[in-house]
Amino acid sequence: MFLWGTATASYQIEGAVADDGRGLSIWDTFAHEPGKVKDGHTGDMACDHYHRWSEDVMLMAALGVNSYRFSISWPRILPAGRGAVNQAGLDFYDRLVDGLCAQGIVPAATLFHWDLPQALEDEGGWLARDTASRLADYAGVVAARLADRVPIWITLNEPFVHMVFGYALGTHAPGRTLFLDALPVAHHQLLGHGLAAQALRAHGAQRVLVTNNLTPVRPASSSTGDLRAADAYDTLHNRLFNDPVLLGRYPDLSAFGVDAMPAVRDGDLAVIAQPLDGLGVNYYNPTRIRAPGEPMGLPFEDAGITGHPTTAFGWPVVPDGLRELLTGLKARYGDALPPVYVTENGCSQPDIPGPDGVIDDQDRIAFLDAHIQAVGAAMSEGVDVRGYYVWSLLDNFEWAEGYTQRFGLVHVDFPTQKRTPKASYHWLRTRITTSPTP
Ligand code: NOJ
Repeated sequence: MFLWGTATASYQIEGAVADDGRGLSIWDTFAHEPGKVKDGHTGDMACDHYHRWSEDVMLMAALGVNSYRFSISWPRILPAGRGAVNQAGLDFYDRLVDGLCAQGIVPAATLFHWDLPQALEDEGGWLARDTASRLADYAGVVAARLADRVPIWITLNEPFVHMVFGYALGTHAPGRTLFLDALPVAHHQLLGHGLAAQALRAHGAQRVLVTNNLTPVRPASSSTGDLRAADAYDTLHNRLFNDPVLLGRYPDLSAFGVDAMPAVRDGDLAVIAQPLDGLGVNYYNPTRIRAPGEPMGLPFEDAGITGHPTTAFGWPVVPDGLRELLTGLKARYGDALPPVYVTENGCSQPDIPGPDGVIDDQDRIAFLDAHIQAVGAAMSEGVDVRGYYVWSLLDNFEWAEGYTQRFGLVHVDFPTQKRTPKASYHWLRTRITTSPTP
């Protein structure tokens, strides 16, 4: 059965940040620091999904999706990041999972979607090797409670984005600006993935995935400089996170003046390269890269993509990039590529309700239609794609952009929490019912 789903993440939708013993996460801290998030928005209330989850499950049931990708809030389960387990936090996900199963919706749970317990950040966050073991402990706790009903587990969400925005550039929590010194964050997350995968399996998880945010990289020209720059960017964005998991080795980082990946110890790569049941792929757009104008900095420069429509975020809409990405993965990794799940794809649009309250998001319909066709094209070119999840079910807290970027199939009026399905929601329901595969 092909999985059609929607995707969300705990900090972006749950709210209820002080309810039932939840601990602080790095996003609570960061969002409350003035100037970090647009308009001072925080996830304190978000979509109030913690209290409205059953309404949200019914929205998915009426949409006709057969899977739901959500993330578990680590500080709800382990408020101090380690040690004492908060049963009330586990109870919340237990209710949610039962609610999904009652509607025939297959739960797919992400362990780490960026809301690290603040207590672990105080001990070094992902710069500390110990955090990898803490992820594994947490994985064991949640799987022991939920793996009897949750068949699909995703260890990490977009470790590249968390490393770059969280630790290299500081535009996301925890707000560190370490540039290339952030590289150990990649290794420790990947080690955490491997250790968590072992813990999940030990507690009955059927399918274990990791989700990477991938982009097909296009050189701006065929000049040697642009080709070299594109290769360097591809290494940092894609291969740094795919190669260790799929091939058991790190790519050559010499373009960055790095001799060997830091923080790696004997045996780590064997742990990281556990057999995987699937690779989660989040796709938003391709990247065009040229040689840097300034030789002292990074070995690449973003050349921008022109000639395509853009989303409200300004991201170029290039559906064929998804086909290119999926077939490119197959070409690069061959038999080492497990089945692929598109764990996120979607777009932010203005989504202004009309006078009748209707949100006629034709731009999102065109986006989803073309991207689903691109998945179909990749499948007919031999890529084993098992699922497609739209980001997102609901408009939600878009990290540093606060509530200003709307990605939902369902509009959320944040002051009243009223949910209104957009035209794209109705379109997707028809799309799924008329054809069971992309
Ligand atoms: C990827 C992230 O996983 C998700 O949290 C985010 O909201 C979407 N991309 C859109 O930027």
